[in-house]
This record gives sequence, C-alpha cells and structure tokens, in this order.
Amino acid sequence: MLWTIFLLLIGLLLLVFLYCSRKRQSNEPPLDKGWIPWLGHALDFGKDAANFLTRMKEKHGDIFTVRVAGIYVTVLLDPNSFDSVVCDTTFLEFTRIRNQLIKKIFNLQLEEIDQASERRWMEWQFQGPSLVELNTTMKYHLQTVLLKTLHPLEWREDGLFDLCYSLLFKAGFLTLFERRVNPELVYNQFRQFDDLLAKLARSSLKGDEKNSARLSRERLWELLSPDRQSEAESVSWQKSYHHFLQEQGVSAEMQNRALLLQLWTTQCNAGPAAFWLLGFLLTHPEAMDAVKSEIRGLSALQDTSTQHPPIDPLETHRTPVLDSVLSETLRLTAAVMINREVIQDKTLHMADGRVFHLRRGDRVCLFPFLSPQMDPEIHSEPQMFKYDRFLNEDMSVKDHFYKDGRKLKYYTMPWGAGRNACVGKHFAVTAIKQFVFLLLTRLDVELCDPQAKLPPIQSSRYGFGMLQPDGDLQIRYRMKKTQHQT
Ligand code: HEM
Repeated sequence: MLWTIFLLLIGLLLLVFLYCSRKRQSNEPPLDKGWIPWLGHALDFGKDAANFLTRMKEKHGDIFTVRVAGIYVTVLLDPNSFDSVVCDTTFLEFTRIRNQLIKKIFNLQLEEIDQASERRWMEWQFQGPSLVELNTTMKYHLQTVLLKTLHPLEWREDGLFDLCYSLLFKAGFLTLFERRVNPELVYNQFRQFDDLLAKLARSSLKGDEKNSARLSRERLWELLSPDRQSEAESVSWQKSYHHFLQEQGVSAEMQNRALLLQLWTTQCNAGPAAFWLLGFLLTHPEAMDAVKSEIRGLSALQDTSTQHPPIDPLETHRTPVLDSVLSETLRLTAAVMINREVIQDKTLHMADGRVFHLRRGDRVCLFPFLSPQMDPEIHSEPQMFKYDRFLNEDMSVKDHFYKDGRKLKYYTMPWGAGRNACVGKHFAVTAIKQFVFLLLTRLDVELCDPQAKLPPIQSSRYGFGMLQPDGDLQIRYRMKKTQHQT
C-alpha cells in the first residue's frame, strides 16, 4: 500500500514537472533541456564545454538555448552577430554574474564597488602613463628571475609549462605586488589554488579538494595581507589598489580577499600563453626558424646601440612574425566565455536577418573559441598551428577574415570584448614578447625528446581564459656560450 502511494506521488510530481517545465515559443532559439531534470546539460558542459557545444551546434545551428543547472543559457556562435550582445548594456548585464562567481571562487563580496570607477582605475594603471614604467620593471624582473635559475653552460631539464608559468608569475608578482614575501612561496600556493579553480567555480569539489581549496585560499590571503609597518615606505600597484578599495568603502577583510582576485586576474594567463607559444615553436621547426631569424635582426640592433640605457628593439621595431605567432597561439588556446544576464526581455537581431526573443532571467553566452577561433569557414584547417596565419605577404598584419561573405570584426577574441575586455592586454603582450625574446637570445632550448608532441588540453578549463595542458613538455636548456647568438 505504502509503495503504491509512493509511486503515485512520484508519478504526480513528474506530471507536474513536465506540465510546468519550459516550452519553446516560435520566436525563440531552439531549446535543448537535456534529459536530467533541473541539471539539464550541466555535467557535459562542465566536463568539456568545447565538445558539448560543438555537438549542440551541429544539432541546432549557431544559436540555441540549453538548460544548465536550472539556468537557461542561450549560446550564440555567430561572430557577425556578437555586437548585439557585447554592445548591449540596457537589456544585458554582467555585474550579478561576476559577483556570484567571485563569491564562489574567492569568497569575496564587492557589491559596494562602483564597477565603472574600478574599470577606469584599472585602465589608468595598465593603459595610462604607468604602463611604460610597468613594462620596464617587468623586463628587469624577467631577466633577474630567469638568469637566477641558470648555471652557466650546464644543461637543466624542466617541464616547459612549469618553467613558463613560474617565471612569468614571479616576475609579474614582483612587478605588481609587495616584495616582502618570497615569490616562490606565493607561486606554489597559487598553483594549488589555480588547479582547483574550475571545480570551485562549478561547485564540484570533492571532500578533500574542498579542504585544500579553502586552505590554499586562506594561506594566500595571509601571504598577500599588507604589512602595516612598511605602509609608509613602499609604493606598489598592490598598495594603490588597496587605497582604491579603501576609498570605495570596502571592509578590511574584503580588501585583503580582493588582492587574491587580482593576483589571479593578473597572473593566470600570461604564463600559460608563453608555454603554448614556445611549445608550438619547439614542435614546428619552420616557425622557430622564422622567429629566430626575425630576432637575430633585432638583437643585432641591440648590440650596436650606443644609447644609454640601450634601446629596447622590441619597443622600437616591428616584429610581424612573432606577432603572428602570438595571435595564432591565442587563437588555438585562449577560451574565454562571455556571459551576460538578460535583465529585460530582449529581441536579438542576428546579422543574417533572423530575430529571436530572449527571456528575462535567462543568460546569453558567447564562446569565441568555437567561432570565430576554431571555425573552419573562417580559418582553414583550424586545428593546425600556422605561424603565418595572421601575416600578409608584405609582412603587414592579416586582418581580413570572412564568414557568410561578410568581413569579420571579431576573427579571434582572446582578450574578450566590450566593457569587460582585458585591460592588461598591452602589458601582457609586451611581457610575453620580452620573455620569448630573452629565452631565445640568452638560452639554448631544446626538446628532451625531439619527436615529442604538445600535451592535450585540460578539457575542464574551457571558459576560464587561457587553456592549460594535461601534462607537460619536457625541455632542456642552458645559458648560451655567446650572448645574442640565436
Ligand atoms: C595572455 C594573457 C591574457 C589574456 C589572454 C587575458 C584575457 C582576458 C580576458 C578574456 C578578460 C575578460 C574576462 C571576462 O570577460 O570574463 C580579461 C580581463 C582582465 N584582464 Fe586579462 N588577459 C591576459 C593577461 C592579463 C594581464 C597580464 C593583466 C594585468 C597585469 C590582465 C588584467 C586584466 C584585468 C584587470 C581584467 C578585468 C577587466 C574588467 O573586468 O573590466 N590580463 N583578461
């Protein structure tokens, strides 16, 4: 008897669920709820978003709505139509999604901050007059941390990812943050935290992992906490940011937590980007030859310079080959997701004339990694690394790419777009180029196994900026006998 009542109740609940659950209206994008109630496609999305969204694109085309953990997300994969999302600040909004995410990952609440003032402050820091000074300091620290790790003429072996991430992190940390803690200590703690970050964001940490994430977060807060005694003496980006937060009325506890958010934002992308760039060069000899030949010309200029301090050839001369290699690397390995919340019912106008209705409370997601970056209609053989993909025959930048016969504004989007695009782009590009230049002019670098291939991508990190490898690429390196001999 009890069983019959139980089964009847379950049946009734299912009927209510099916009756009340959402149905597609004729003017809405195709709807795919998945077969698991409430969760929908959350598991597939979290495991490998690129694979899942590719399957959905094949099934539904370049716009569709999927259910992900109770939220309806409209995914737009037509780059010609991206502006109707990134330029819309009336019907679409980012702040609430951002606040929820930083609460989950960093246990941080910054509701009192005025987003527009923070953005202006960041632009002033990373794009204004301070940029030249930041670049010079970063270059100095890159040289010091790199050369400190070397014994002259002695070969060392290392994983390329570990090497790139640790060197760029340490130099970046010394450039922006207070120098009273050992950067090695911060780096090791940061990597533990970063490894768990995607799971933290999706609330999918297991028992032990939850503990590790909490502990490394707390340890990092401690390491980053300002030293009151040295308050008066030192001047750093970290200190200015701290003052900015104080002026915004952020509590002392949250000020400290916000420093970890900024450590992650400023340090999590450049190291992995440098790894993929050097990894592609080491596994594509023709690309390495082209870059080395360009760099030989630059280092000759540096040698003959009589200026004091000597001119920096990277700042004064074009490097079209290295620039194209960087763009191609980012096309293949930068995978940001641009998410917005629909705060009022919206009519979305697609570039091809189709019109769709989006419901208030839903989300919109752009995933430029799939299109434009890996779209075969835009980039031929998109899985292949072609070092000169962004280079015209006359060595000017190739920026004419087409889809559906239309010239694209967004043919690759590693830096995001619109009001939340990366403010550190120029600083990051200069740092990565400086790092590659330094490595190739000062060191002999080679693969331990000349036949080695690049490791695959960690599929759980789609959506979190630069992708990271699953494994590493073993290299050996030593200081060059003669400097500038590439
Ligand atoms: C290859 C290196 C980098 C890549 C690919 C990259 C990419 C991005 C992307 C895609 C966003 C937007 C995130 C979103 O919309 O959710 C972003 C935001 C940001 N990036 Fe970068 N970034 C890099 C390096 C850096 C560096 C070195 C800095 C500073 C030192 C930096 C500072 C920032 C800041 C402050 C924001 C937040 C902007 C805002 O919310 O208004 N980035 N970055």
